[in-house]
Amino acid sequence: MYKVAVLPGDGIGTEIVDSALAVLDAVAESHKFLISYEKALFGGAAYDEYGNPFPEETLEIVNRSDAILLGAVGGPKWDEVERTLRPESGLLSIRKKLGLYSNIRPVKYFPILAEKVAWKPENLEGVDLVIFRELTGGAYFGEKGRNGDQAYDTISYSKEEIRRIVKDAFEMAMKRKKLLHSIDKANVLETSRLWREVVLEVAKEYPEVQVEHQYVDNAAFQLIINPRQYDVVVTENMFGDILSDEAASIAGSLGMLPSASLGGEINLYEPAHGSAPDIAGQDKANPIATILSAAMMLRTSFNEDQAAKAIEDAIENVLAKGFATGDIAGKDSTIVGTIEFTEKVCEEIRSN
Ligand code: IPM
Ligand code: MG
Repeated sequence: MYKVAVLPGDGIGTEIVDSALAVLDAVAESHKFLISYEKALFGGAAYDEYGNPFPEETLEIVNRSDAILLGAVGGPKWDEVERTLRPESGLLSIRKKLGLYSNIRPVKYFPILAEKVAWKPENLEGVDLVIFRELTGGAYFGEKGRNGDQAYDTISYSKEEIRRIVKDAFEMAMKRKKLLHSIDKANVLETSRLWREVVLEVAKEYPEVQVEHQYVDNAAFQLIINPRQYDVVVTENMFGDILSDEAASIAGSLGMLPSASLGGEINLYEPAHGSAPDIAGQDKANPIATILSAAMMLRTSFNEDQAAKAIEDAIENVLAKGFATGDIAGKDSTIVGTIEFTEKVCEEIRSN
């Protein structure tokens, strides 16, 4: 029995997580495994109930699970809450507490969504890349504060913090095309100079892997004009946050990008997007990123490769049949809501 802690969070979080659970149930039945869920409050919803976005009650549930499926956190309702108690702080604290330093965000171009991409589809044909984002260091966790009219955030990295994520990326590169792009700002930042040194050191252990270094500003440009050059990309926390949203534009919508946050005993799976409060509760949210995150969970935490593949194929098939949520609908699409899209994916799984 796989035990999953389910943290829907805020905004569209509940809807997209419910979708992923329905799909997990369908695939558990067709692939004959047992899976159980325990839900807990997280983010703004937990702040409202306990005054803390990641309360003890939720940590207990997390600690007795094998993996975590998370929706999204935050919203304008909590804009005035002090930084350390904001919904986003809950997210940072669960990542840090569980040691989830390695955030993996695969980006794939779906030709069926050609009309929806903001860029030239001919540049995107065949794009299939993976971003390794360092998740528990850098500006997110460095010392921060105010001095009168001044504010500061510190970026700090140790060699070890860099080495472990870089190694994970090299390992993935070995399984894929043996090509690794490391993104930094070594022309300006000392942490980036250390980053580059460590990449060069680790590279000696992987002589077969071709390593390319790019400055982050150039990478932001290259990602749009020539994304096919990338296969595995590794970068620090904030650069990875920004570049992964940018890369989602290749997939057609923020609603398409799943993620796995690894490195702990209990790993976490969540869509790369936010809580979209403007469309929450309207059955409009695109559940694909969360469903694909659930597939990553099956593959990575539970070794259920075939079940994961069944989910990915089902999504492709439903898209190929022309069903789409509003954010990814083209002129020939049949626009469906979150619930109907999910039902189509489940039907697809049951019929295969
Ligand atoms: C993400 C999100 C988070 C981040 C926010 C919600 C704190 O943007 O997972 O990319 O910046 O890491
Ligand atoms: Mg982000």
